[in-house]
Amino acid sequence: MSDKAKQLAAGAAVDLVEDGMRLGIGTGSTAEYFIQLLGQRVRDGLSVSGVATSERSAELCRQLGIGLTNLDETPVLDLAVDGADEFDGALNLIKGGGGALLREKIVAGAAKRFVVIADTSKQVAVLGAFPLPVEIIPMAKQPLSGRLERLGAVVTLRQAEDGKPFRTDENHWVLDCAFGPSMAGPADLAQTLSTWPGVVEHGLFCGMTEQVLLGDDSHVAVITG
Ligand code: 5RP
Repeated sequence: MSDKAKQLAAGAAVDLVEDGMRLGIGTGSTAEYFIQLLGQRVRDGLSVSGVATSERSAELCRQLGIGLTNLDETPVLDLAVDGADEFDGALNLIKGGGGALLREKIVAGAAKRFVVIADTSKQVAVLGAFPLPVEIIPMAKQPLSGRLERLGAVVTLRQAEDGKPFRTDENHWVLDCAFGPSMAGPADLAQTLSTWPGVVEHGLFCGMTEQVLLGDDSHVAVITG
């Protein structure tokens, strides 16, 4: 999918930002367009503060002069904007392709409004073609892999470029779980995963999204659940 689609979706989200807002700021290539466009508005005089969902996004915000805060200082956010790896018709999401799912879910959960920006490649009838990221405590890898496989997933420990296990910003590991069409209902699966010892968080975001701003090469559609 072209960058133009991501850019248009990001631009529509920036249009939702008002002076004085406390923002949740997402992670990934679509969220980076949002940060770039937000930076332009800040240079033009907009005043906002943001909680970034990753070190990478925080660094980009700093470079662009976007004021950062944290959830200790600012526990309630007006609007969180983030990308997604997949979304379905009920606006359930798979997130975490960039490994930031834990902070992303915390920030989305702290926001009064959670808006997703995406291009049309992310829209699916049924979640599961994109492997579900599950953030885990390293010592739980074997038992959790077994449990996930028994649910029908093909499980891969995510690797960093140096071949070592990828570490999240919170120093955990990620299991990428390819369920394909065998994925159970997302809400039930989310509930199940949340009860397993060693699972820190999973990339299913159910019942959190207010709207998806869906870009293609020429315009943006607003999708509500
Ligand atoms: C990072 C995420 C991203 O939002 C997701 O991977 C989408 O990224 P992109 O906009 O680059 O397609 O969940 O953890």
